[in-house]
Amino acid sequence: MLPAVFQNSHQIHDYLTQGLIEFGGTFEFKGPWFCDMDMLVTSDPANIHHVLIKNFSNYPKGPEFQKIFEILGDGIVNTDHELWEFHRRTTLSFLSHVKFHKLLETSVWRKVEKGLFPVLDYFSEHGIDFDLQDIFQRFAFDNICNLVLDYDPSSLCNDLPCIPSQKALDDAMEALFHRHVLPESIWKLQKWLGIGKEKKLIQAWKAFDEFIYPRIPIEEEERKDDDFNLLKTFRKAYEEKINGFLSTNSRDFLRDTSLTLMLAGRDTTSTCLTWLFWLIATNPVAEFKIREEIETKLKLKENKKWRFFNVKESQKLVYLHGALCESLRLYPPLAVERKSPIRSDILPSGHYVHENTKVMFSFYSVGRMETVWGKDCLEFKPERWISERGGIKHEPSYKFPAFNAGPRTCLGKETSFIQMKMIAASIIYHYHIQLVEGHLVLPRDSVIVQAKYGLRVKLSRRNV
Ligand code: HEM
Repeated sequence: MLPAVFQNSHQIHDYLTQGLIEFGGTFEFKGPWFCDMDMLVTSDPANIHHVLIKNFSNYPKGPEFQKIFEILGDGIVNTDHELWEFHRRTTLSFLSHVKFHKLLETSVWRKVEKGLFPVLDYFSEHGIDFDLQDIFQRFAFDNICNLVLDYDPSSLCNDLPCIPSQKALDDAMEALFHRHVLPESIWKLQKWLGIGKEKKLIQAWKAFDEFIYPRIPIEEEERKDDDFNLLKTFRKAYEEKINGFLSTNSRDFLRDTSLTLMLAGRDTTSTCLTWLFWLIATNPVAEFKIREEIETKLKLKENKKWRFFNVKESQKLVYLHGALCESLRLYPPLAVERKSPIRSDILPSGHYVHENTKVMFSFYSVGRMETVWGKDCLEFKPERWISERGGIKHEPSYKFPAFNAGPRTCLGKETSFIQMKMIAASIIYHYHIQLVEGHLVLPRDSVIVQAKYGLRVKLSRRNV
């Protein structure tokens, strides 16, 4: 089946979706006999529930995943069992701390005020079209670095500078995708020879280390003040709980933790916002409704040049929340997920999974199945997410797996919604967005479903 995949590699997610619709939500992929590429591909919510929730312990990340993502070292995404539990507890204690919302609000607003608005104003005043996806990536990168490393690289400013570790993230994601689709022996050979995507990965690795290590404070400095800070939270927990348990020292451990969070927090929110703005631009009624909701639900009395949207206000924006969920349903930033069982298993769809077989979930396809979301599954309908009483309607995670499901559900879900709503409301309230005619907007054939050629738009300032 590999030749058919290569033939359709320019539209891999839609090709998989067609196959999944044809075969009722699950099919077996057969690769060449020598490549160890056989896998079960599924978008069946019952299978997702079975693997990610009900039989979680039988489907750890495992050594194969850790080999592919070796660049993340002992970061949370790459770990299982006790170390994963330690990460989860520590990250959760930081993200749910009372001081965190304030930190997030200040960080996002500072970036909107000092980075986003000046750049957008410059483009709108000069009538220049630009890539909105690039702007969102820069925003997310600056913000996540600020939250994790307490350092703002200022990649979002009028000059739009090239920041090596920003570019390194793109190169690393591409190389990791290749490791997913190439047989292990091939990418290992490329790594050994230092060629192709593997060469870029080696360079990206170096760029990350040069960026992160100098920003990890040395312990003596740290004890001088007791500010609320992620790296300090992790260092303290490391010394109390796992010092001696790991072969890596605390600096390496903090490097792995930081890099993982940078990777988890940049492309996900920026991809979701990109598709949101594309969906809004192609559905003008939705743009109108979001603006109407902002104006009616939030008391907009100030007559300032810029209106600020805080965490509490963004939580009132139910229609905007629905619009973001639609963006995540149709274009889940993490399009696929792969698992392998410890013991062989039978899935609810009736398919047998041998212990050496991989199960691949297409989250992209789940949102496009009529059997899951109904006949109008391809339509952008924020109303789908609004309950009869006007609140947010929640859907089970195995039916809406954009944030994963079960014990490994994304830890940044709430943070992301807050951040994305603050950014989206700020732009929609102050600007009118227009797509550049003739610019092709297609999903990228990668693990992260960015817009392949970016999202070129023109903005005009509204009179508010
Ligand atoms: C729209 C935004 C986001 C989406 C769609 C998203 C999606 C996901 C998905 C699908 C996973 C599972 C990955 C896997 O197990 O292989 C995940 C895990 C994770 N995400 Fe997010 N994410 C988003 C934003 C964020 C942000 C902003 C942060 C950081 C604050 C974050 C932190 C994490 C962490 C720490 C995990 C690992 C959880 C674990 O393994 O227990 N995410 N996310």
